[in-house]
Amino acid sequence: MRKPIIAGNWKMFKTIAESSATAAQLKPLVAHTNHCEIAVAPVFTSLRFVADRLEGSNIQVASQDIAAERGQGAYTGEVSGEMLRDAGCSLAIVGHSERRQYYGETDETVNRKARAALDAGLRPIICVGETLAERDSGREREVAKRQINAALAELTAVDLDRIIVAYEPVWAIGTGRTATPQQAQSMHAFLRSVIADTFGEAAAQDVRILYGGSVKPENIGELMREDDLDGALVGGASLDAASFARIVNYLG
Ligand code: PGA
Repeated sequence: MRKPIIAGNWKMFKTIAESSATAAQLKPLVAHTNHCEIAVAPVFTSLRFVADRLEGSNIQVASQDIAAERGQGAYTGEVSGEMLRDAGCSLAIVGHSERRQYYGETDETVNRKARAALDAGLRPIICVGETLAERDSGREREVAKRQINAALAELTAVDLDRIIVAYEPVWAIGTGRTATPQQAQSMHAFLRSVIADTFGEAAAQDVRILYGGSVKPENIGELMREDDLDGALVGGASLDAASFARIVNYLG
């Protein structure tokens, strides 16, 4: 059985005071939730403050990115996995489409970052997903396969155990246009089969594959009914504690 994970990606929103307040509001709203793992990903400057607020709760802290380099070094502007652990993170989002689109992240950097996260004891949430042009030209499987195979290159079945995948079609992110449950299920099953080709069926069956792209309280239930959807990576609708709690508690 795969325990679902519902993670909120706060992107470049919220000051320290605002993210701490949202974390504090969220805590009691999900205090009795145990059907899924819960995480929030604030900006770097808020990580330690949010982690302190969530200490002892069932909400984990994730970073939105991670350096491909380890430890310490002359890499201006970067934050290493070890530093993210120090700031209270247990997860790191890697290869989000906004990083790929606006900051030139490649399949190769995504792989390096995923490995850096694992080395630092963080669980990477590896994002893959096609653009609208790629879907319109019927290439969504080809793209997702290339991205996932590249991201998982050189990893072992033991590593796979600590990896989370997020399928986030770029055309569904922040657009209000959610993939239908059937579209998502078809891609999730496909991604699982690609993982199985490299790591074997049993290992692939244990990997959590989250869906991301305009997830809201209104559509989480129907998405989660699909067999291969193991949770969600939520952007816009995670910024408000009450809305995110409704998504987390989609069971009712
Ligand atoms: P969205 O973002 O929920 O606002 O579409 C999802 C994401 O980018 O992770």
